[in-house]
Amino acid sequence: MIKIKSPHEIEAMRSAGRILAETFEYLAESIQPGITTAELDELASRFIRKNNATCSFWQYNGYPAHICSSVNEQVVHGIPSKKVRLSEGDIVSLDIGVFYKGYHSDSARTFAVGTISPEAEKLIRVTKESFYEGLKMAQAGNRVFDIGANVQTYVEQNGFSVVRSLVGHGVGSALHEDPEVPNFGTPGRGARLMPGMTLAIEPMVNQGTYHVNTLSDGWTVVTADGKLSAHYEHTILIKDGEAEILTSC
Ligand code: MF3
Ligand code: CO
Repeated sequence: MIKIKSPHEIEAMRSAGRILAETFEYLAESIQPGITTAELDELASRFIRKNNATCSFWQYNGYPAHICSSVNEQVVHGIPSKKVRLSEGDIVSLDIGVFYKGYHSDSARTFAVGTISPEAEKLIRVTKESFYEGLKMAQAGNRVFDIGANVQTYVEQNGFSVVRSLVGHGVGSALHEDPEVPNFGTPGRGARLMPGMTLAIEPMVNQGTYHVNTLSDGWTVVTADGKLSAHYEHTILIKDGEAEILTSC
């Protein structure tokens, strides 16, 4: 069942989204060669707590950290660690959820660590742009797969691939609600979008094959061919016209 949020619920989600956007702004300056992903986890969780909110991912299905930090060939759900120190030329995807006044916001983006290769720059740029291609279709009257079809077309035109086995989702009082929001598919299929639906649209884009594996830690998803992957996600509100991004400042 896809929930339609009331104006009161939407206000709470806007607040959760604003805190998350500010968290990314706060973290951005710290994403430099030499920092560990455990330090980023600590910075994020302290900032979120200071804003009277909590981290949605902490202990979600037993997840052992506050945020996800996925480096280079890691696609999503990388676990922050003192042993993972970022180096010049790495890319790191940070995925964060904020829980505030009973509602979640969910957002991710991929950062460059120092100077990165032109190919890695292109991957990050195309991933972000593919989100906005999908967003164009995210309005009342369209269907869920219209979003993913646009994402997929744009990504593949640029020579990259979209991950199939992980998808976006509804978000609200639960972190993951209906519907699933794939980043691929046939336009015109899936549930009809209605004003008041809140969705996390989150393309995961690989340089090479779309196939992925999960490491023995049970969480970290990596590309099957070891090539780079990037992630870009916002929580959005469906409206009659253009959607509203809830996880931006
Ligand atoms: N942000 C992820 C998503 O969009 C959720 C991470 S769940 C965790 O679905 F358990 F890994 F934290
Ligand atoms: Co998500």
